[in-house]
Amino acid sequence: MIASFILRPASVTDIPALEQLIPASVFALQASYYSTAQMEAALGPVFGVDAQLIQDGTYFVVEQDGQIVGCGGWSRRRAVFGGDRHSLVEDDTLDPSHDPARIRAFFVRPGWERRGIGKMILLACESALTAAGFRRAVMVATLAGEPLYAASGYSVEERYEVPLANGLTLPVVRMAKEF
Ligand SMILES: CC(C)(COP(=O)(O)OP(=O)(O)OC[C@H]1O[C@@H](n2cnc3c(N)ncnc32)[C@H](O)[C@@H]1OP(=O)(O)O)[C@@H](O)C(=O)NCCC(=O)NCCS
Repeated sequence: MIASFILRPASVTDIPALEQLIPASVFALQASYYSTAQMEAALGPVFGVDAQLIQDGTYFVVEQDGQIVGCGGWSRRRAVFGGDRHSLVEDDTLDPSHDPARIRAFFVRPGWERRGIGKMILLACESALTAAGFRRAVMVATLAGEPLYAASGYSVEERYEVPLANGLTLPVVRMAKEF
């Protein structure tokens, strides 16, 4: 029941809980799309907490009974994925008059998938990014994320592979939506 979920902006004090939720989400909900080696190599460089988004107020968590059951956000910054432990400089800000906003880092707790949490966070992101003047949003989606975004009106622009350590790659999809 979506009524029992509470969405709020993430705070830096949520970071330890998010650092546990993200690998749990990845290993359970991406297991039918990627190998264990791919998921292990992508955790950090591709999947991780980006504290910049939390500081910007553009990252959300969904709670149920005080437990974080999902997270995700949008960004007015250039990066399209990646945890902050892997960025060396502060990311540039985008210009809403000609740049697309980014949709970033959606993770739902295993056992809470397919209950509308991802969609709830995506709607909050779309409302905030359009209020900030953006007229287009893009994301680099995992194969696990693609059905959520496709069901929400995002179209596939490109399929490609992100290089990972040890010669591995991660197949991903660049998707976009106009507002
Ligand atoms: C992708 C993810 C965030 C989706 O979250 P979710 O809360 O399960 O998605 P929702 O319940 O809001 O789904 C909304 C709609 O999207 C579509 N959808 C979502 N997941 C789907 C799936 N696995 N298969 C088919 N359709 C799916 C459906 O149309 C669904 O509506 P329905 O359940 O009424 O049929 C979640 O699977 C996840 O955390 N995956 C692992 C991490 C990851 O890869 N994140 C994406 C990063 S880009």
